[in-house]
Parts: sequence; C-alpha cells; structure tokens
Amino acid sequence: MTEQTIKAAIEHIIDPDLNLNLQELDSIKTIEIEGNTISVYIELFPPVHWIAKIIEDAIKDSILSISEGFEVKIFVREILIPRMTNPNVLPTVKHLIAVSSGKGGVGKSTIAANLAASLAQRGASVGLLDADIYGPSIPTMYGVAGAQMEAEKTESGALLGYPIEQYGVKIASIGFIMDRDQAAIMRGPMLAGYFTTLMDQIAWGDLDFLVFDLPPGTGDIQLTLTQRVPLDGAVIVTTPQEISVSDVRRSISMFKKVNVTILGVIENMSYFIPPDAQEKQYYIFGKGGGEQVAKDSGVPFLGEVPLTIDTRVGGDTGFPVVLNPEHLTQGDVIRSITSSIVSTIRKNAHSARNSQTISITL
Ligand SMILES: Nc1ncnc2c1ncn2[C@@H]1O[C@H](COP(=O)(O)OP(=O)(O)O)[C@@H](O)[C@H]1O
Ligand SMILES: [Mg+2]
Repeated sequence: MTEQTIKAAIEHIIDPDLNLNLQELDSIKTIEIEGNTISVYIELFPPVHWIAKIIEDAIKDSILSISEGFEVKIFVREILIPRMTNPNVLPTVKHLIAVSSGKGGVGKSTIAANLAASLAQRGASVGLLDADIYGPSIPTMYGVAGAQMEAEKTESGALLGYPIEQYGVKIASIGFIMDRDQAAIMRGPMLAGYFTTLMDQIAWGDLDFLVFDLPPGTGDIQLTLTQRVPLDGAVIVTTPQEISVSDVRRSISMFKKVNVTILGVIENMSYFIPPDAQEKQYYIFGKGGGEQVAKDSGVPFLGEVPLTIDTRVGGDTGFPVVLNPEHLTQGDVIRSITSSIVSTIRKNAHSARNSQTISITL
C-alpha cells in the first residue's frame, strides 16, 4: 500500500455538484500512511456541509476496497474564496442568502425558518435575520417571541446587539427592536435605516450562512440589501396561483437588474397532503406554475413544498417542521431543497474562483 495506489484509487471520485473528479479539482492534498492508519487530507469548494460526507464515504469505500484492515481518516478543508465585492460588510459571514417573494402570505418566512434550521441541522453555523418589517414572524416560528436581545456599547459608542439563539440558529428580528404599529407609520428610507442597523450592529460572530427573511415585493429594504450586501443569491418563494407567479416574475427581474444571482424558485403549498392519507397529493391550486416561471426566467427550480398541517403547526408553535422527526416527508422535501441551494452556491463558488484565477493571470 503506497500513497500512489491510494491516490489512484480515489482520484476518479466525482464531486457531484461540480461534475469534476478529485484530480481535476486538485482536491487531494496529502495522503499519509502510518501503521494501519491511512489519513487523507482533501480540500473542497465551499460550503461543504452537504458534500463532505458524500465524498468522505466514497473515499472510504474506495480505499477499503483495496486495503482491508486499515483505518481510514479523512480531513476536509474548505477552500477559502475571498469576496470580490463589499468585503467589509458582514465580514465574518461566509454565505448570504436572501429569501424573497413577490407577495406576502406565500410562506416566505416558513421557508426561511426551515432553510436556516435545515442548514444548522447539517452542522453549519447559521444566522437568520428577520427583515420583514411589516410582519416579523421569525420570533414566533422559532418560539422566541418577546425575547429581548442583549446589547452592549462598543468602544466607539455604537450599540452591539447579541442575537437570540434557538435550535442552533442565531436570530435577530426587526420584531425584537420595533413593533408593528411603529413600522406601519414609517416611510421606506427610515425602514431601510432600521434594516441597516440590524445588519451592522448585530454580533453575529463567525457564520457559515446568514439567511435573510425579506419583506415581500421590491421596496427600499430589498434595494438596500442588494446594494450593500454581497449576497450569494436570492431564493424566491411563490405559490402556484397565477397572481403570485406573476409577482415572482417581477421579483426575478428586479434581482437580475441589480445583478443578484437567483439561486432558484421554490413553489410552496404546491399540493395538499391529508394527515390521514399521507400517500395522497391534491394539487389544489394547479400544477407546475412555479416550475414554469423558473424555466421562463432561466433560473433553477428548487422544488415543490407540500401544504401540510404540521408545517403550519410548526410555525405557530415555534418548532420548524424540518426539525420534527415525526414529519419526515416534509422534512425531506426541505432538506433536498436546501441541498440544491447549497449545490448552486458551490457551483458559483467554483466558477468565481476560476474567473478570479483568470483575472490574476491575465
Ligand atoms: N407548506 C406549508 N404548509 C402549511 N402551512 C404553510 C406552509 N407554508 C406556509 N404555511 C402557513 O401559511 C401562513 C403564511 O406563511 P408565512 O411563512 O408567514 O408567509 P409569508 O412570510 O410569505 O408572509 C403561516 O400560517 C404558515 O404557517
Ligand atoms: Mg413573513
């Protein structure tokens, strides 16, 4: 058993997001053999939370098939990709995802809440910023309504707030610092000011992901966000009905105009699953609207999220359905959508690194 034989056994393993093998990606950094322990050090494009396990398992299987009785240890490191734009905004956060929708009530907060929980479930460090001034519902959906953020004065005299942690997710909500009646009488630019405060004066610490629950539509907050924050992209939530789908077209074109990547469209409340007949799917609002709108706009379609009673109950009782082991069907749908989002971010990270390399060598 030599390093070369091990390398030969694993270099053809494919990174399924990037469709390139470990050799093409120059992922295998070091192979060490000590006694009957084989240690493999690899580097993967970020974020690795979904892919690392898949590649680790493939490496283990390949090595064990040529070397019985060895112990295999795999060490995964994320490739660091420096941000090209606004590196000073939220510098301790690696990936920023905005959840947006054309109109309210389509389940944007439900998706944002479950997306964040699902990322945390995978071992990522996650923040969730509830920027929906008109209907901050994340505190309720996480069971922390009424919680008070602790704040501290920094040396420069600015206030720094500490997010509330729940289910491994750090939460900051406009609802923690301002009530709805107050928001109703404020004008756009003032609201955008509050939003900026939320971004700049929260002690997020190191995060793999920060998920933004945006207000619906294409107003001042969306514009502030797209101008100031180096988003990995936006996820757009719609329901199958035409009215919501046409609002979504408007959202997509707004994000495209300001050069924000669309990570994909999620169709929520696609079909109803009756609690007493889990194998049934009733397409109450018609079928395929979300997928069509994604196709027409040339953006990924991330999937259909069913309408289920436990999703609504999870929201109302402050326990995101994706975390509930009793509701695996809905959980699996959300986990699969989350993994598609992460996969798109990885593809973009890979092409960004390639274009950075090209611009350096030019
Ligand atoms: N897939 C779903 N199944 C069941 N209820 C849902 C689903 N998605 C959202 N809801 C419920 O619909 C209502 C509106 O959802 P919400 O996430 O608050 O929408 P938005 O943030 O777009 O205004 C909430 O009561 C929520 O629990
Ligand atoms: Mg909402």
